[in-house]
Amino acid sequence: MKRSGKPFFILTGSTGVLGSHILYELLWKIHACGYQGKLILLLRPKQGKSIEARFRDLLNPALMPVFMQEIDLERIQKDHVQLQDYDMTTAEALDACFQSEEGTWHLIHCAASVNLGTSAAACEEIKQTNYYGTLRLIKMLRPYIHKVSYISTAFAFRPEEWKEQNMVQYRNYYEIFKAQIEEEIPELCREYGLAWQILRPSIIAGRLMDAPYHVVYRFLVFYLFGAFFYRSKQAYGNMNVRIALNPNGGLNMVPVDYAAKVIVRALDTPIQDLNVVHSKYVPNTFAVPRMLQAAGWTNYEFVSQIPTDLNPVEKLYYRTAGAQLSQYLLADDYPFDMAELKDLIPDVEEPNLEANFAALCDYAAEHQFRHVME
Ligand SMILES: NC(=O)c1ccc[n+]([C@@H]2O[C@H](COP(=O)([O-])OP(=O)(O)OC[C@H]3O[C@@H](n4cnc5c(N)ncnc54)[C@H](OP(=O)(O)O)[C@@H]3O)[C@@H](O)[C@H]2O)c1
Repeated sequence: MKRSGKPFFILTGSTGVLGSHILYELLWKIHACGYQGKLILLLRPKQGKSIEARFRDLLNPALMPVFMQEIDLERIQKDHVQLQDYDMTTAEALDACFQSEEGTWHLIHCAASVNLGTSAAACEEIKQTNYYGTLRLIKMLRPYIHKVSYISTAFAFRPEEWKEQNMVQYRNYYEIFKAQIEEEIPELCREYGLAWQILRPSIIAGRLMDAPYHVVYRFLVFYLFGAFFYRSKQAYGNMNVRIALNPNGGLNMVPVDYAAKVIVRALDTPIQDLNVVHSKYVPNTFAVPRMLQAAGWTNYEFVSQIPTDLNPVEKLYYRTAGAQLSQYLLADDYPFDMAELKDLIPDVEEPNLEANFAALCDYAAEHQFRHVME
């Protein structure tokens, strides 16, 4: 039986960049509807930390968005949050969590490996965690859920015309398997009688809507680019790096708090497919210099393709960060239809990424690109 109107959610990935902010928005929802509803968080212990300790870390007042101060966290933890040890790759049975529960749940599946690598090891990690892990989770939860909201990626989105003209190519296993799951979820959910939706954020950046601003718990994707130069400058900072990028292209980025608000707003709607993206790309020729400046790297130039006569730091770059990111920096932009997103959040102003981009980069450099939370 579906419990309409009240928030009853199962969330994966709550310890991650985006999932943590979906968690905050869901906790706010429970608070805002008079402490009704419940969340089951599927998370795993890591680096000697129990799931309880990891959950406590997420409620660090110095890091949480300021609106969390209005919530009775003790009450919410005791009565409205259940933590469940779960690893996507080993997938222990979950039936015990639901034995005393009546009514069905809405699954928000946000956990994934965000490995943009192209090695065989990256393929295996993505296949096990993102692909088999997702299918197994939905199959296992099938008796207890009525809807699946799957967090995919705007990188797996391709305009319909591209598909019709057989122009679709994916850049790595991360995109391939996200796209594959997107194809399979509707079929699987139809077979199981579940509602479904696919929500695709673009590159996640730090907070721009809720203080403290610029916070992001892990430095992934484009932040990896800055991390590379930050860490390499002592050994190689005297060398010139030729960075391959498309001077007419850009990065589509959304602040993590904005993405989480859009996603949580979409949950109870009939939307089946939504790109959680920005209306403007941040131009590469703007973003890359800002990130390099924050990282303290001054010796660089832009080129339109990956050079073949690489110096030592270029070799390292194109084997590591560049191997994951060059495909994105060299890509053409493609347009997203923003109409549905605008209808969903007419009251929320789209944050200005470009105006805040340098501050987002500086936050990462101040934290030495070390994950704030692991
Ligand atoms: N970051 C981006 O720019 C971006 C852009 C578009 C879409 N997305 C999507 O957004 C979602 C969240 O990504 P994120 O940026 O928040 O990445 P993240 O910070 O790395 O978080 C990933 C989450 O997945 C969990 N996870 C990974 N492997 C797991 C496993 N084997 N078992 C259980 N949990 C596991 C992690 O748990 P641990 O903390 O235990 O590792 C973490 O909670 C993903 O689906 C990703 O594809 C991200």
